[in-house]
Amino acid sequence: MTLTFTSKAAAGSVQIRLLTTDQRTQLPASVTEAELSLQPGSRVFLHGENTLFVGLGDRAKVTADTLRLAAGAGAIALKKTGRTDFTLHLGEWSAFAGAAMEGFVLADYRYEDFKPKKTHPIGQVTVVVPTKEIAAARKAGERSATIARLTNLARGIANRPGNIVFPSTLAEEAEWHAKKFGVGCTVLDEKKLKAGKFGGILAVGAGSARPPRMIILEHLEGPKSQPPLVLIGKAVTFDTGGISIKQAADMEKMIWDKSGGAAVIAAMFALNQLGIKRNVIGLIPSAENMPGSNAYRPGDIVTCYDGKHVEIVNTDAEGRMLLADAIGYARRVLKPAAIVDIATLTGACGVALGDSVAGLWSNDEKLGDAVLACSKEAGERTWPMPHFPEYDEQIRSEMGLIKNSGGRMAGACTAAAFLRTFAEKTPWAHIDIAYPAYRDKESAALARGATGFGVGTLVRLAERF
Ligand code: BES
Ligand code: MN
Ligand code: ZN
Repeated sequence: MTLTFTSKAAAGSVQIRLLTTDQRTQLPASVTEAELSLQPGSRVFLHGENTLFVGLGDRAKVTADTLRLAAGAGAIALKKTGRTDFTLHLGEWSAFAGAAMEGFVLADYRYEDFKPKKTHPIGQVTVVVPTKEIAAARKAGERSATIARLTNLARGIANRPGNIVFPSTLAEEAEWHAKKFGVGCTVLDEKKLKAGKFGGILAVGAGSARPPRMIILEHLEGPKSQPPLVLIGKAVTFDTGGISIKQAADMEKMIWDKSGGAAVIAAMFALNQLGIKRNVIGLIPSAENMPGSNAYRPGDIVTCYDGKHVEIVNTDAEGRMLLADAIGYARRVLKPAAIVDIATLTGACGVALGDSVAGLWSNDEKLGDAVLACSKEAGERTWPMPHFPEYDEQIRSEMGLIKNSGGRMAGACTAAAFLRTFAEKTPWAHIDIAYPAYRDKESAALARGATGFGVGTLVRLAERF
């Protein structure tokens, strides 16, 4: 997709015109309300004028999200009819050029590695804005397009199944991209994980013939003395539940259990592409959670990287074991300014907030607020969740240790309480993306599968926190 910002429409390509509900008079009189409600994302193509009209809804309620949806829904509708060159008349909405470009780029991705016939990608996009807005729109539009392209990279990683992407191939792929982008990359294989006493990662990986990895990505573009921001992403390449095995229904969705790791990998490359002058380190602990003969078991006591002992009561609560090691490593070795982890951690988070909203926990108000502000701007719905001493009580084991599950009640909050103990006094935030990480069905502006949720939030956070 090539992008041009101009004040004059390109002849030949499809025109995309955006209309709020009060602008119905600008439509040809033959278009009925049933054909085009002008609600956000509604659209109709008029052959005679070679124009796609897209609704923005109520003028007073138009936000960046509205433009993201309008551009995305418009692009998907046009691509389905074989049209791939667009002229978008942004007009009075030029301040939302970034969101509109995100909509286009995200709409351009679908997972079709195994489809015999691939769809044509978007070709030329011409964005028409008032002359004096061209420079600002181009700057915002190109920046957002970069973030969205890397969001698509995260989706591509997360969508590939467990027989193709497993810890060692995920690490190879991260290394390959890191070399291409010029981002520092170190991979700890199972020998190095053993030598380093990464007990949590090793326990989860033990049941699989495919050994675990820790991927470390370094974007050190700030002053030498600047303590890094550490981003941690859970990358369970497939989650069977292990010995506490999951039921068969929906288990195939656990290919997406590496979405947090994919988001961190992509965010690190986006920071590189945007030239962000900060020290940021990405940690991606990766394992396959399988019930093999060497698998960890309920009742096991596992010693994590920082020396804390954990009583395993449910091997399906594996993500927090990976994160515990990564958080411990970050705290002890990297001396970070802050740690932010992102993970498809609990089904309970979906029960609490629904399938398009992520939960946010933090031990530091400023950091938590920054994550929320960045997620809002990125169009990635995230909502603050509590910590109470009762949750710590729920995960206290009879032996005085902590246990890796606190049971059904407040499952997302007890998972967060578990992670919080590993962060200790380091400013830390945790984003649970269990359900927003993927869509089971295609929506107007997004293909089915991985959403890349979190890339936009993490990039903005690293830029500003
Ligand atoms: N990967 C799952 C969480 C998940 C569930 C993600 C549904 C996406 C959709 C995680 O490892 C898990 O199994 N969590 C358990 C925790 C429980 C055993 C305490 C859960 O949510 O049931
Ligand atoms: Mn699990
Ligand atoms: Zn999992």
